[in-house]
Amino acid sequence: MTKATEQRHILIADDDPGIRGLLCEVFDEEGYLTEPAEHGGEVLAKMTKKHPYDLLIMDVRMPGQDGLTILEQLRKNGITTPVIMMTAHGTSSTAIRAIQIGAYDYVIKPFDVEEVTLVVKRLFDHQQLASKVRELEAKSFDPRDKMIGNSPAMQEIYKQIGRVAHTDATVLITGETGTGKEVLANLIHVNSARRNGPMVKVNCAALPESLLESELFGHEKGAFTGAVAQRKGRFELAHKGSIFLDEIGEMTLATQKKLLRILQEREFERVGGTTTVRVDVRVIAATNRDLEADVRAGTFREDLYYRLNVITLHLPALRQRIGDIPLLAEFFLDKYRYAPSSPPARISEDAMERLNNYDWPGNVRQLEHEIERAVILARGSVITSEHMSLVPSSRSALQVDIAARLREKSTLDELLADVERLALQEALVQHDDDIKVAARSLGLSEADFQKRQKKYSS
Ligand SMILES: Nc1ncnc2c1ncn2[C@@H]1O[C@H](COP(=O)(O)OP(=O)(O)OP(=O)(O)O)[C@@H](O)[C@H]1O
Ligand SMILES: [Mg+2]
Repeated sequence: MTKATEQRHILIADDDPGIRGLLCEVFDEEGYLTEPAEHGGEVLAKMTKKHPYDLLIMDVRMPGQDGLTILEQLRKNGITTPVIMMTAHGTSSTAIRAIQIGAYDYVIKPFDVEEVTLVVKRLFDHQQLASKVRELEAKSFDPRDKMIGNSPAMQEIYKQIGRVAHTDATVLITGETGTGKEVLANLIHVNSARRNGPMVKVNCAALPESLLESELFGHEKGAFTGAVAQRKGRFELAHKGSIFLDEIGEMTLATQKKLLRILQEREFERVGGTTTVRVDVRVIAATNRDLEADVRAGTFREDLYYRLNVITLHLPALRQRIGDIPLLAEFFLDKYRYAPSSPPARISEDAMERLNNYDWPGNVRQLEHEIERAVILARGSVITSEHMSLVPSSRSALQVDIAARLREKSTLDELLADVERLALQEALVQHDDDIKVAARSLGLSEADFQKRQKKYSS
């Protein structure tokens, strides 16, 4: 954030009291906060990392350490404050040197005051522009706005975003935990006409009932003990933008009722208030619960469900789009570099096979954590299955469906063989691949265990 002009703090260092005083006076008048320093030692003492100032204007020639030495010392101390040097006429080599060691600009004495104020103004304008550019860059590269996946199911989601983003329709996003509901909500917002407005998030599960209401709708002064002033709620803060109601299935019936009114009429009263507040807000809600079942169970209002359900986007579980795993893995390898300058780690074939065969109960979030962890364990080099924490087969694969197998006319021997194979596998998983312990857990000798294992390895 760039500070407002009146808050900018300038340190002015010159041993000549005339110039020092003049500059302080001029910049004070321009609305800056100025402070004088008589010599280099004072500059070093005043300019610390804790208090770096916004600008230093410093004379080169000062008794004791000269300005250039002080500048060098400041940079060594890790202080990056811009510096404008003042040099005497005819010392271009000093001026060049000043720029080389990191001064922003210099002015040549004798100067008129206007020249100095111009340089200062230009500097702050530059800074503001640079921070704006950084802000924009950060926005366009925000990984939260990026959704990875080319599978037909995701293509369908992208199409739906294209159709609904620009409308003001309420959107309900469903999907298991970690499937990217928040990513999708962000994507809808940034692709809507409200993209320059606020995107306000509320996690309905994180707040107790009493707080949630005041958090959403705000409260008037004196509405309850501790309400010392009026406070705007998230709906008001989201005016002209979007509000993301996360984990909406966790709301109590009382709050659901208030929410219903907002969705219908776009108006509400603050807690403890009578004035009606109107807002222009697009609502995006998300849940990993089965709201229809909650409606049947009576814990979620049916009318609210239909209001939210205008457009429902359902994010598929990762195991339903395993074709996206390599793409996602690549994305996370790029995101979680071992060191900022290192190239992305690579994944061995066996490790990739592990990723592809896993059933991912935690979905993309789990994959993300798995990759982040594996990069560290592999020290940024090739990730093999040894660096993974995934249990190779899912629980569901450990079931032998006897009824189905009988219908398929499996023999008893075939069935028992499958049970045996799965038992050996599971014993290894439960005992960290320690054959001795795994064998013992099944009442077998180690040799017997290995013999049986061999039978199934071909
Ligand atoms: N398609 C995707 N592409 C890239 N990253 C993704 C994708 N989906 C999810 N992620 C990442 O996975 C993590 C979890 O995503 P997100 O928070 O959106 O999940 P969620 O569905 O809201 O989960 P929960 O129900 O637990 O809140 C985030 O770090 C997010 O950036
Ligand atoms: Mg979420």
